[in-house]
Amino acid sequence: MRIAVLAERAPAERRVAATPETVRKFAALGATVGVERGAGAGAGIGDADYEAAGATVGERGALVAQADTLLGVQGPEPASLDGVQPGTLLVAMLDPRRERARVEAYAARGLEALALELIPRITRAQAMDVLSSQSNLAGYKAVLDAAAEYGRAFPMMMTAAGTIPAARVFVMGAGVAGLQAIATARRLGAMVSATDVRSVAKEQIESLGAKAVFVEEVQGIAGEGVGGYAGETSEEYRRAQAALVSGHIAKQDIVITTALIPGRPAPRLLSDEQLATMRPGSVVVDLAVEQGGNVEGSRPGEVVERRGVRIVGHRNVPSRLAADASALFSRNMFNFLSAFWDGGAGRVTLPDDDEIVRGARVTHGGRIVHEALE
Ligand code: NAI
Repeated sequence: MRIAVLAERAPAERRVAATPETVRKFAALGATVGVERGAGAGAGIGDADYEAAGATVGERGALVAQADTLLGVQGPEPASLDGVQPGTLLVAMLDPRRERARVEAYAARGLEALALELIPRITRAQAMDVLSSQSNLAGYKAVLDAAAEYGRAFPMMMTAAGTIPAARVFVMGAGVAGLQAIATARRLGAMVSATDVRSVAKEQIESLGAKAVFVEEVQGIAGEGVGGYAGETSEEYRRAQAALVSGHIAKQDIVITTALIPGRPAPRLLSDEQLATMRPGSVVVDLAVEQGGNVEGSRPGEVVERRGVRIVGHRNVPSRLAADASALFSRNMFNFLSAFWDGGAGRVTLPDDDEIVRGARVTHGGRIVHEALE
């Protein structure tokens, strides 16, 4: 197997899909690895580090023409893959629902494209789960981004000059990112509360020492939700949730929103009127800003001020911790490919009837094959 690790070309993407550690692991399986020049720069990994791990470093055109497996963090522009052989595997986070034209171009080139973020969240696939590894870091960074914008301290401080009260942090959406945000804010000494629509999240919030703020009178999403995910809630639930949040929000200094519904725009959780009840200097971080935003007025890639409240909308938050994000992403990538390593053939073989393969596969034999894209 000949692997090519592509340098990311999307704006503000600093991550890389393989590290020297995973290059060594692929080599130990028997694969050869080529890395595009400069691919690790954003994550603090030099070309020489890859070479020391046994990779060759070269230009994209030559690497792509020789490879049978392409690794990326995001999907590459099809036009940048001239010379690629039909049947080549392409593994990355392909965002196929939004990047439909790109996926069609992969199919037209005969690429076998696999979207890591579509791997089902079954126990066997936990070590391949890029959504969890990246969301966890995003949840941590969201709290630091909030702290950096906030003109006050997080912990309570008793000083000779008087007492500083602890910041109040409210986390909306307690999945992977939200739970890490709760834990991080608690470590910084904040008083933390959190909400979600999935009923199991309540216990998870409380086990981290935060207060659970839940709609009690109307059922949200029972248990984990389908596949561990939330779905749309009823109109009645949304009204009850808005009323609950309105009462709570005015007393908060920091709000971190992380709520997502797979395949849908992010649910709107905070309105302009609700923001107006927060005291000036408060900070809201909208981690869902690129999926449409949980917060009215948040803008991708910007920090905007509305009614005295700063709304932080950084894009691609995991990339802001590029070294750790790359290390975890690369291990997810290795765990996925090595699970299907065929020692006899000396390459990855992907069984058509495997649940993980069926979940991740978006193009096969020149066609788009994923059920979510039909
Ligand atoms: P996500 O990124 O899709 O959504 C983030 C959170 O927003 C979720 O907790 C969701 O319930 C919540 N949310 C959606 N709509 C909302 C609304 N209107 N108001 C408030 N909150 C709302 O979810 P994520 O972080 O990917 O994880 C979802 C669950 O899946 C978590 O409980 C996680 O522990 C579980 N999981 C299970 C895995 C497994 O292998 N069994 C692997 C990874 C995650």
